[in-house]
Amino acid sequence: MPAATKTDLMVLGAGAAGMICAAEAGKRGLAVTIIDHARAPGEKIRISGGGRCNFTNLHCSPENFLSRNPRFAISALRSFSQHDFVERVKARGIAYHEKTLGQLFCDNSARDIIDMLTDDMRAAAVRLELSTEVFEVGHRDSHFEIRTSNGVWHARRLVVATGGKSIPKMGATGLGYDIAQQFGHTVTETRAALVPFTWASNMAEIWKPLSGVSVDVKAECNGVSFREAMLLTHRGLSGPAMLQISSYWRDGDPLKIDLAPDLDLEGLLKQARSERPKTSPWTVLGELLPKRLTQRLEEVLALGAMRLADMGNAAIGEVAERLHGFGLVPGGTEGYRTAEVTLGGVDTRELNQKTMESRLVPGLHFIGEVVDVTGHLGGHNFQWAWSSGVAAGRFN
Ligand code: FDA
Repeated sequence: MPAATKTDLMVLGAGAAGMICAAEAGKRGLAVTIIDHARAPGEKIRISGGGRCNFTNLHCSPENFLSRNPRFAISALRSFSQHDFVERVKARGIAYHEKTLGQLFCDNSARDIIDMLTDDMRAAAVRLELSTEVFEVGHRDSHFEIRTSNGVWHARRLVVATGGKSIPKMGATGLGYDIAQQFGHTVTETRAALVPFTWASNMAEIWKPLSGVSVDVKAECNGVSFREAMLLTHRGLSGPAMLQISSYWRDGDPLKIDLAPDLDLEGLLKQARSERPKTSPWTVLGELLPKRLTQRLEEVLALGAMRLADMGNAAIGEVAERLHGFGLVPGGTEGYRTAEVTLGGVDTRELNQKTMESRLVPGLHFIGEVVDVTGHLGGHNFQWAWSSGVAAGRFN
């Protein structure tokens, strides 16, 4: 059997978290190797943000993350914040812009971010091994043994950065969770998040024809709400508001959707009643909201044919209320096939919040999406990858 290759630190997964961690540790003079089964590093970065990578968010704070322990992320986010990452982007000369709500995107291409990370790794003499399958990970005599399709490695430290389960077609696997469990770690329940909803079977025929309609809404579920755009698709509901709220949704939960969060519909309908009493309330609503949507709502809500003149205040109030609090129960979600992230993961109670090191196995670290820290939409997930990756790379 060929001798094992020795390395100080082995990173599994050349994604966002793994690459920044490898470069950080390499800069300290450690021999670092990073392996990935993909043919290219940073594949999710490449497709992110519609190809322009929403690489961080100016307003990123611990409140933007879901975790069984919401305080866990604070230390790493403080030690390497969104502003620290932006400084790197600026120093590299990458052109970027703020799109909305503090979301920063590359002007040109997500490739700029991948090139920055791979150049940083090269400068830090990190050894990058691609197209490499991981067969087995063991731990003995205070080193980790990693058996791969490219030989056996012995590492004093092992950083697991293999991401979550979303988009298996792009190489996502559950390897990180398996390694965690193998070493005695708890893995909290995982499920697809930041994911479009699908129609329940009895809703599909009604709503499918509205595919392509977009409307600004306030979507609420389990006491949490997001005020962003909602997009109707032939499969269900998508758009930022729906992706955000999906992280708080479980099978069977109802969604409450305010279809006109900025409008006082009751006041506007009463005003219309005095100005043009012969008009239907749906005509007025069709002037305020996408017409195709109000036409379908008129059929679905089936409140009867009406003229504003014939409607008392209570009837007007009811129409307004039904639109401000439109309720529906989605059939499900599109699952890992299209989810941006995986909710849940390696339990943070068993990790050191400053270094991401295991409290059970010294020298073993978990970073990025594999950890039970999941960000809101808008650059927060990459920021967690950068912050947790740097934290592990600076271990002492
Ligand atoms: P990541 O998934 O990036 O990397 C894991 C690496 O491990 C991969 O390279 C993979 O090939 C490798 N790997 C997995 N299993 C392996 C195995 N068995 N053997 C060897 N290697 C293995 N976030 C954001 O903040 N802004 C955005 O714009 C977007 N946009 C976006 C779009 C789409 C379509 C998706 C799917 C996701 C996003 N995200 C996002 C989320 C973001 O991509 C995600 O949170 C980070 O990539 C997580 O970084 P990690 O390094 O933890 O995992």
